[in-house]
Amino acid sequence: MKKILFFATCLGLVFSIFCSAFAEELKPIQLPKPQVDGGKPLMQVLKERSSSREFSSQKMPLQVLSNLLWAASGVNRPESGRRTAPTAANWQEIDIYLAMAEGLYLYEAKSHLLKPVLAEDIRALAGRQSFVKDAPLNLIYVADFSRIGRGTNEEKDFFSAADTGFIAQNVYLFCASEGMATVVRANIDKPTLAKTMKLGPDQRITLSQTVGYAKK
Ligand SMILES: Cc1cc2nc3c(=O)[nH]c(=O)nc-3n(C[C@H](O)[C@H](O)[C@H](O)COP(=O)(O)O)c2cc1C
Repeated sequence: MKKILFFATCLGLVFSIFCSAFAEELKPIQLPKPQVDGGKPLMQVLKERSSSREFSSQKMPLQVLSNLLWAASGVNRPESGRRTAPTAANWQEIDIYLAMAEGLYLYEAKSHLLKPVLAEDIRALAGRQSFVKDAPLNLIYVADFSRIGRGTNEEKDFFSAADTGFIAQNVYLFCASEGMATVVRANIDKPTLAKTMKLGPDQRITLSQTVGYAKK
């Protein structure tokens, strides 16, 4: 009996070492150069923009993810580092985290790269609605108050909400152009999600946005 227990403990130990080594293997993803030509005409995209709440589990190709993030808040003027979405005083305080099956990443606009944050599938925590965990991607918008140069917390909340809105609308327009499905969401258990994401005291979740393809 003692021997069996000893073997079971060893096996458990080996398994947990294997798992943690595997978890550390989440690597940065260099996104391909965004394709910034084409897409549907703006007026048609505005006609088609809508919220969807039925998602298939179909993943999007890396090129589509690259184009989506550039549209959301990528650098569109490299000489100044300014972005496709405006921010108050150009504070650029909104970070985009990506919750996907393989883990949580942070979008770094300047290098157009996904930086690994957590080797864990936290999609189910990205929102209280059941479709959230089925979609391939949930964008989580996080404001970093330390980048906002002035104002009370109430004013910082206002700037963060407004600046998130521009990014979310860019995502809506991109999805309409690509025939993809999306919905921006406030219905989130923010304290639990922030804790899981290991956010710092200056970081505030503003909204989340599910992105993918409509269920057929
Ligand atoms: C700030 C904000 C928060 C929202 N929160 C949620 C949400 O938690 N869950 C959801 O299913 N939709 C959410 N929505 C989407 C709205 O319900 C949707 O935009 C609205 O019903 C209009 O539909 P449309 O986007 O198709 O025009 C939110 C939209 C905004 C702008």
